[in-house]
Amino acid sequence: MFHVVDTTIFDRPLLDDLCELTTLVRTVAKAPEGARQLQQLASTKRAMLYFTQPSTRTFLSMNNACHVLGIRTSEIRNASVSSEVKGETFEDSIRTFSSYVDLIVMRTPDPGYAARAAELMDSIPRPVPIVNAGSGSDKHPTQALLDIYTLERSFEGSGGIDGKTIGMMGDLKRGRTVRSLSRLMRHYEGVKLVFIAPDTFEMEPDIKAFLNERGIPFTETGRLHEILPTLDAIYVTRIQSEHDVDNESSRVDLAPFTIGTHELGLLKKTAAIMHPLPRGPEIAVEVDEDSRAMYWRQERNGMWMRAALIAKIFDVDQQIRELASHSS
Ligand code: NCD
Repeated sequence: MFHVVDTTIFDRPLLDDLCELTTLVRTVAKAPEGARQLQQLASTKRAMLYFTQPSTRTFLSMNNACHVLGIRTSEIRNASVSSEVKGETFEDSIRTFSSYVDLIVMRTPDPGYAARAAELMDSIPRPVPIVNAGSGSDKHPTQALLDIYTLERSFEGSGGIDGKTIGMMGDLKRGRTVRSLSRLMRHYEGVKLVFIAPDTFEMEPDIKAFLNERGIPFTETGRLHEILPTLDAIYVTRIQSEHDVDNESSRVDLAPFTIGTHELGLLKKTAAIMHPLPRGPEIAVEVDEDSRAMYWRQERNGMWMRAALIAKIFDVDQQIRELASHSS
């Protein structure tokens, strides 16, 4: 594994392997001795976190995932404090970062930048891997991985993701998390997707075409209450108003696309409620108390999954397996 720009590099064996590795990292890290041993695995490596778009979870979980493996990190979180303000091109900036570190994790407001960075790396003498931590409203591959891990764990006793009906709700048009997660669903058998959104924010045609080409059944609805009892998981998303061009979010009635105590009563006892966070009003705080609410676990899983992914990139995953076999 080298660059992680989009979800195309993942297949089912790799997804299963990453999920297993994530559990091993978590387990080993629980004991102080294990946590210390993990920190030896990549302690000669350095990573750059280049986040020119707001981020709390992805930034912190990537940063701490690096620390779990002993990787030292440096960061730029605002293009206005980099030489880009002096007119340096994006390509020259990325090439500069690569001079100092062994890995670049990046989030940008525009789609396509992570791909451009990866292409640049492939053309220089000392390339470093690029990990896309969210590109515009288009892609968020590492979020999709932690979502897969959380879903697999939620359905541990019932055959995993295969055969499940998964609802995705909210701003499906501009939500990069649901776009990347939908793409990964092709690796699971018998999955059905239900897209629940107001007309303005329905899933984009490119994802629907992708699902059609791969024979993944999906339906679209605006009626949450009718569909809720059929769902094994509901993945709720926030309205991405930062992408508004004409204040369109303010004209949409979002009340029918929220989860509160009434909706909990309609949902299966075994269902998983997911959200990439941050949340708006689409999940009431009372839902946090419900045992089906998975989003806080999902958040923590993000750190372990990203540590597993970075371990793969630096080829130290076998050592993690060895540490786990000694500790068990
Ligand atoms: C998501 C993102 O940035 O796309 N957040 C995250 O990475 N956990 C979802 C969002 O901002 O709505």
